[in-house]
Amino acid sequence: MRGAAMSLTAAASGLVVFLLSVSVVQGQYGWGVTYSSTEICAVNGSTVEIRCSYTYPSTLKGSVNTAQKTFWFTKWKDAEPVDVKTDSEYAGRVEDLCENNTCTLRIRNLTESDSAEYWFRFTTNQADGKYDGSTGVTLSVTNLQVISDIYWLSCQNSCYQSYIPSYIWYKNGQLIQGETSYYISNPNKADSYSCALKGHEDFPSPPVCVRGQTCNRVTYTERSICAPKGSSVDISCTYSSFEDNVNSKFWFSPERSHQGQNPSQPEDLSEDSQYAGRVQILETERGRSTLRISDLRDSDSAQYLFKFKTPSFEWRSDLPGTTLTVTALQVQVIRAKVYNYSTEAELKCHSSCSPAGSLNYVWFKNGEKIKATVISSYKGLFQPRDNISCAFEGHEDFQSPALYAPKLPSVSVSPSAEIEEGSSVTLTCSSDANPAANYTWYKEDEDSPKASGQIFNITDFRAEHSGSYSCGAQNKLGRSNSTFHLISVAGKFSTFTRPDSLCNMKQPKHIQHVSVQGGSSMVSEVDHTDYVMYQSSS
Ligand SMILES: *[C@@H]1O[C@H](CO)[C@@H](O)[C@H](O)[C@H]1NC(C)=O
Ligand SMILES: *[C@@H]1O[C@H](CO)[C@@H](O)[C@H](O)[C@H]1NC(C)=O
Ligand SMILES: *[C@@H]1O[C@H](CO)[C@@H](O)[C@H](O)[C@H]1NC(C)=O
Ligand SMILES: *[C@@H]1O[C@H](CO)[C@@H](O)[C@H](O)[C@H]1NC(C)=O
Ligand SMILES: *[C@@H]1O[C@H](CO)[C@@H](O)[C@H](O)[C@H]1NC(C)=O
Ligand SMILES: *[C@@H]1O[C@H](CO)[C@@H](O)[C@H](O)[C@H]1NC(C)=O
Ligand SMILES: *[C@@H]1O[C@H](CO)[C@@H](O)[C@H](O)[C@H]1NC(C)=O
Ligand SMILES: *[C@@H]1O[C@H](CO)[C@@H](O)[C@H](O)[C@H]1NC(C)=O
Repeated sequence: MRGAAMSLTAAASGLVVFLLSVSVVQGQYGWGVTYSSTEICAVNGSTVEIRCSYTYPSTLKGSVNTAQKTFWFTKWKDAEPVDVKTDSEYAGRVEDLCENNTCTLRIRNLTESDSAEYWFRFTTNQADGKYDGSTGVTLSVTNLQVISDIYWLSCQNSCYQSYIPSYIWYKNGQLIQGETSYYISNPNKADSYSCALKGHEDFPSPPVCVRGQTCNRVTYTERSICAPKGSSVDISCTYSSFEDNVNSKFWFSPERSHQGQNPSQPEDLSEDSQYAGRVQILETERGRSTLRISDLRDSDSAQYLFKFKTPSFEWRSDLPGTTLTVTALQVQVIRAKVYNYSTEAELKCHSSCSPAGSLNYVWFKNGEKIKATVISSYKGLFQPRDNISCAFEGHEDFQSPALYAPKLPSVSVSPSAEIEEGSSVTLTCSSDANPAANYTWYKEDEDSPKASGQIFNITDFRAEHSGSYSCGAQNKLGRSNSTFHLISVAGKFSTFTRPDSLCNMKQPKHIQHVSVQGGSSMVSEVDHTDYVMYQSSS
């Protein structure tokens, strides 16, 4: 079906699409896509990696042939395959990484609707150099769940697989040794059960009770939460017990507990000094507990679990709780093109959360909200003075540090007293910029830069070194040049005061290190001329 669609498309658009089997293609023409696995079963909520490697001939019809674009697709639109990265259904959940002719598509937080056949395509610089794998990778995502009756439980798995999977069962969150079948008979009505696929132990089904029972059970609302540093977060769960009276209950973090005296004994977070004054336990309804942590710190990134105790039972689960990631946001420049009066930039709002859950991003220009994006990247046009930051939607008060092009650099010269011939002079340039700027030094009327780096040393300063110096500060978002600084050896001042030389200056000049025998009136006159020149030229 798909193969037919592809050859039709190929015929219609005149593209060369090879539909031969991989080995033959590779042998005969040097074109090929090899998938590391062509059938993958995954559980909803988990992450999958689909991998392939590709080869192509290094020359085609006598010209050099090089790979240009690689992407993965599941659908066609207007006779063109749709890159999954641009498909809104995958927004914020996919990453496509390629290195050394090996590409990996990573999809996080899988849902059943991600089940599809994934194809890889690469194109080369040659007009007809397009290649799709001869087969795709079949991904089946299953919403694993336990179906419960009074006398049996079964693990429902919708994955299409050519082999029979092995199951794993948990009773009250603890592994039932030796239970590998898809069903369990005569379950205990006090206990909750969940199942997992072997190899996917970290993604068990939600726990269930025997039909009609209220069993011992804890269900976390979210598996992972991402929150910006400084904000507050609610982590919640629902719980029930077979017996009605719960004697005690609390939230804990295994990571924190291990720092206590008794590693095996969970410690109540409300009594942990790290959280002092920052945690609240809310019970707005029966059977639901919410842990609220405010003023989040990096060290709060951890897994949080809930436990309860009744006169005859204590909840001790080995299954995951809610993982909290506290992140500091950061704007990264993916690529930028700097024009004379504007910069076109593709930016990414980076966080250490992956994915950032269901959070969207908002972008700020000079502190004003400009755009909301579902994915972490954003492309826009900026003015040289703009500063840009990002935040999670709903957490606008916790913005990333702002990114901006270098501001007007300042130059300091050492020694600041008069310069003796043969002495050493150090010029230092500083410009406020984020990301930090790199620096280049120029001498007036010379085209090529004199030096790079924030500090420019001239050891053994000679008369020929005298002149006007300027530094340029550059980061990915732009560039800014300092004004020129006149530096000359004591007594050689007159060389640089000729009005015709000053009139050629395109930039305002600061006169420094000018040593004039016979008074300072000359200096102020030069300064004044300089100012006038700048005014008239701007
Ligand atoms: C890709 O190739 C380079 C050079 O051969 C090597 O250093 C690098 O480790 C390779 N990367 C991977 C992911 O194999
Ligand atoms: C996976 O599917 C089950 C069954 O439909 C559902 O209860 C569960 O919430 C889903 N998990 C995620 C992470 O979406
Ligand atoms: C940008 O500035 C350079 C140097 O001043 C100039 O040669 C060029 O024409 C300018 N480009 C535009 C598009 O204004
Ligand atoms: C995973 O997807 C579900 C919807 O399918 C969403 O409710 C949930 O917030 C997502 N979780 C994460 C961690 O992205
Ligand atoms: C960004 O611009 C806004 C508005 O001009 C200003 O208030 C803020 O201080 C700037 N931030 C930085 C880091 O320059
Ligand atoms: C510049 O000179 C100063 C003083 O002589 C010295 O301390 C410094 O290391 C030099 N820096 C460079 C980059 O050469
Ligand atoms: C300075 O930074 C710019 C932008 O990141 C880069 O293009 C340029 O090559 C850098 N120059 C030096 C001398 O490092
Ligand atoms: C800064 O100076 C360099 C070298 O003279 C020049 O190429 C560049 O266009 C200048 N940039 C700005 C923004 O003035």
